Parts: sequence; structure tokens; C-alpha cells
Amino acid sequence: MTIKIAISGAGYIANIHAMAVKNTPGANPEALVEAFPDKAESFAKKFGITRVYSTVDELLKDGKVDALVVGVPNALHAPQTIAALKAGVHVLVEKPMAMNAAEGEKMIAAGVKSGATLMVAHCWRFDSDVCWLKTQVDKGQLGKIIRTKGYGVHSNWGPSGWFTQKNLAGGGALADMGIHALDTARFLLGDPKPTSVYARIGTYYQDFDVDDTGVIIVNWDNGTTSYIESGWWQPHMDAPEAGTQLYGIGGFGSLFPTLLRITDLSKKTPRIKEVNPGFEFPRPEHCPQVMYDKQMAYFVKCIQKNQLPVPGGAEGLVNMKIVDAAYHSSATGKVVKI
Ligand SMILES: NC(=O)c1ccc[n+]([C@@H]2O[C@H](COP(=O)([O-])OP(=O)(O)OC[C@H]3O[C@@H](n4cnc5c(N)ncnc54)[C@H](O)[C@@H]3O)[C@@H](O)[C@H]2O)c1
Repeated sequence: MTIKIAISGAGYIANIHAMAVKNTPGANPEALVEAFPDKAESFAKKFGITRVYSTVDELLKDGKVDALVVGVPNALHAPQTIAALKAGVHVLVEKPMAMNAAEGEKMIAAGVKSGATLMVAHCWRFDSDVCWLKTQVDKGQLGKIIRTKGYGVHSNWGPSGWFTQKNLAGGGALADMGIHALDTARFLLGDPKPTSVYARIGTYYQDFDVDDTGVIIVNWDNGTTSYIESGWWQPHMDAPEAGTQLYGIGGFGSLFPTLLRITDLSKKTPRIKEVNPGFEFPRPEHCPQVMYDKQMAYFVKCIQKNQLPVPGGAEGLVNMKIVDAAYHSSATGKVVKI
């Protein structure tokens, strides 16, 4: 049975999702929801979509789709997702899943009540380099991981429009970029629970009401500590847009460039063995279409097999709780327990 998928939004990520639907066997881009008619028209034409609506409510009233992909400003994530889930339509919602954790909880509840699937598009969990490093961690190559360092940063650049408006975005560089670094660290560590967060977040490079700079420290219940940097318009980034480093008792692991340095400290002179899987670096494209194709294929598989997706609402919610705690910590200057 072909899974009929509606796309909400006709912007940057919606184009990638529509292409991913086209690239997924057993899925079809059936409908489009877009508030602005000029954008809707060219998008619908590009992907051969004939059912076009300006709101999710209109879509839901006008005949069945199986799933909705939500790729609009963050303020619309919860209302659109909840409307679709209540109607029994499965949802893949972009990150951050909502404006805050309270909204995330309502989204999860709507899915639990109707039985429809909720997946959150934490796309790096589908990236080849990330998955390779995760396999190495799971094999114990690095031993116990003591700390991680990661960043989601744009240097000498930042988004404009709704991304920089608090009422539409919720947060700035942390909600946009830092959340990728946060979710990647958590995924690599095997989804531990956060216990406390300390953050310093501010706006220094541009004049808008969301943050462009953040330093966040998360303590996890497995004893690991993660240091996350978020930023737009930063004067420097350590490597293209996002990277994560893992510091284990048994060695060092890195994303972008992706490699391991396994250390044997039992000898008088420590031995270091580098394992390089041979991924291209720098990448031709930092966020390749294939990553989103794998994410869409997994979403469709979860629908077909009635399987709980990971990353689902639960994983998205943990990230929202950390983001909320980080903003609270920064505002109060205190460590926030979760
Ligand atoms: N996972 C990723 O790699 C990734 C990358 C980019 C964006 N995103 C996420 O996708 C979502 C959309 O981001 P984008 O970059 O595609 O944004 P975008 O601005 O390119 O597109 C947003 C779309 O929403 C529509 N829209 C509907 N109501 C709107 C309103 N009130 N104000 C403004 N636009 C409105 C716009 O017309 C546009 O078609 C965000 O949640 C963002 O965080 C994820």
C-alpha cells in the first residue's frame, strides 16, 4: 500500500522532504499545505502535487492522507502536529519539535490517544558518519565516555525572517543549530537522561530578539558531561556547521573529520591507533539529501510496520527539556536540575 504523504511548508526543508518522499519506494507526495499561494504554486508544480491547501484543517477535512510532514516555522509545529495526530494522521515534525517542552508533551499525548505515529526529524541519526561512530561506541572502542564536545554553528552567517522572531521560532541559534549538536551527542551516548544543565546564552552579533550565541553544559545520568556550542554569525567554527568529539577512557572519537584514535595507556609510552573509515572530508554537502532520504524511509517503515520511531516524541521531548532548562539557566545564572 502506498503511503500518501502531505507536506506542510514550501520552504527550504519542505523541498528536501518532498524529494525524500519521491526517493522513498512506497510513498507518494499527495498534498501540500502552504499559507502563501505563490510559494504553494511553484512547489506543487515542481513535485507534481495537485491537492493544495492553505491550512492543515482544510487538508484534514478534504479526504484522507496517511501522513503529514511538518516543515514550517516552529510556532506551527505543535498546532499542526496535534491536529493531524487527532485525525489519525501520522506525523514527521521538524526539529525543534515545538516551542517548548509543554507543547511537546501535548503532541505526544495526542499521538498516544489516537494511536498515530509521531516522529521528530532529528536527521543526524540517519547520517552515515554519525551511524559509523555510533557503531564504534556501541562496540566499546572508546571505553567509558567521560565527556563530549559538540557544536552547531554558522560562521559569518545566520538566518533571517521568522528564524529571528521569538514568537515564531521560540529560540534562536540554540533551538535551530545547538539542538542538532545536542541530539547527536545524546544519540552517540545511547540516549542517556539529562540530570542538570548550565548555560550562558545571549545575543551579541545582530539585533534580534533570539539568541545568536550559546554555551551549554549537560550532565547525563550515565556520568558523562556534554559541552555544546550554538551560534549564528560566529567569527569562527571548528569545522563545517556541526561536529562532535567524544573523549573516552579508551580513546577519542570525532565527527567531521570522522575517525577514532584508540589509546592504550597500559604501556609506558601510550600507543595510539588511528581508525579512519574513509569518509570524504570536507563533505561536498554538509547536509546531504541521502540523510533525509534515509530518515523518510525509516518514517515510512515505522508507519507500515506500526513501529514506534526513534527519534520519536520521547527523544524530541528530552531535547526540548534541555533547551528549556538552558534558557532558564542562562536567565537565572543557576544550574537547572531536570
Ligand atoms: N533538519 C534540518 O536539517 C533542518 C534544516 C532547515 C530547517 N529545519 C527546520 O524546518 C522548519 C522550517 O525551516 P525552513 O528552513 O524550511 O524555513 P523556510 O522559511 O525556508 O520555510 C518555511 C515555510 O513555512 C511557510 N510558512 C507558513 N506559515 C508561515 C509564517 N507564519 N511565517 C513564515 N513562514 C510561514 C513559509 O511560507 C515557507 O514555505 C523549522 O522548524 C526548522 O528548524 C530543519
